[in-house]
Amino acid sequence: MFKNKKILLGITGGIAAYKAVDLASKLTKMGAEVKTVMTSHACEFVNPITFKSITHQPVITKMFDAESDIEHISLADWADLVVIAPATANIIGKTASGIADDLLSTTIMATTAPILFVPAMNIHMYENPIVQENITKLTNLGYFFMEPEFGILACGYEGKGRYPMNEEIVFNITTYLKYTKDLSGKNILVTAGASREIIDPMRFITNHSTGKMGLALARAAHIRGANVKFIHSSISIKVPEYLDSIKAVSAEEMHNAVLREYPNFEITFMTAAVADYTPAKPSKQKIKKSDDLNLELKRTKDILLEIGKKKTSDQMLIGFAAESENLEKNALQKIEKKNLDFICANNLNVSGKDETEILVLGKGTEIKLIGSKFSVAHQIIDVILKSTKK
Ligand code: CTP
Repeated sequence: MFKNKKILLGITGGIAAYKAVDLASKLTKMGAEVKTVMTSHACEFVNPITFKSITHQPVITKMFDAESDIEHISLADWADLVVIAPATANIIGKTASGIADDLLSTTIMATTAPILFVPAMNIHMYENPIVQENITKLTNLGYFFMEPEFGILACGYEGKGRYPMNEEIVFNITTYLKYTKDLSGKNILVTAGASREIIDPMRFITNHSTGKMGLALARAAHIRGANVKFIHSSISIKVPEYLDSIKAVSAEEMHNAVLREYPNFEITFMTAAVADYTPAKPSKQKIKKSDDLNLELKRTKDILLEIGKKKTSDQMLIGFAAESENLEKNALQKIEKKNLDFICANNLNVSGKDETEILVLGKGTEIKLIGSKFSVAHQIIDVILKSTKK
């Protein structure tokens, strides 16, 4: 995924420095060339040899290192992307103030590559107005920031300040190597997951949808700067904290949530696998076995059809279709019937996996996208953005 990409990893002095070892490992395994710069405080937490062994690249710790022929300007020019993880209040403050007094801060100042900060610190430090003002200043200047996670911090406090999951950092890196915040200010609604229709307190009807495609779209749109609302039924992976999410497990709950939220969003991706049928009379008590059981089912409301009817000229609606046969013909019929701008159709034999193959149809477009769900999510967004610029 990161073949031929040059990533400069800046490690500053926080306890989460040890977690960045796994980040360096992931990036290296994904094909990136990773060079590490460590501040002197970072070296108190992790020995530079650890990064050197994992990345098979030099680790630079000193501004004036007689042993090393690498200096800050060549490092700054070399990088396709600079990632500071963990980023302390100190490095954020120094960058915001234009201070360049060691190798890392000098490299940050000298590079023209995109820079991603991954702050991790004590909650009170993170919430300190000076730190927040520095983050706002740098964000406005085009630096990228990830939000820390909520949880128990090394200092014993509980709050926002934890180093995020390395998988999430990788998603951000993938995005910023290619995109900017081109969805800034856009309101995007994404639904995902498999609905659960209650039979009795023990049992329900569901389907094979994992929700991964919807989550990939929500993640990609969020990282590219959109205001994302994520409405999900049952999904197989944890929803990241940074997403503004609503849980709507049944088709009816999904219907209510989507109809309530829909008017506020310019782009809606209806990725959820909503049940077409639900038990007509769900039982309050567990159904005891006897002879054959006939379960009466009734139709659920077609959410996409309803919001298609309400669609205004400022809104775009994208439906999804999983088909086992006649992919293109069935998908095109759905565009007409449900008043969609695009439909993303996939063959049921490739669903459920991390890699996907999607046919995007609509507005004179017919394009096949192949890759990881996250990469395809970005490509779907590109197709839609391109159509709005026509
Ligand atoms: N959808 C919906 N409400 C439902 C069912 C589906 O909004 N009750 C949406 C899905 O989120 C998806 C699209 O409709 O975007 C799928 O189209 P649909 O024609 O409903 O596909 P299927 O349910 O597979 O229908 P069919 O069995 O006719 O192929």
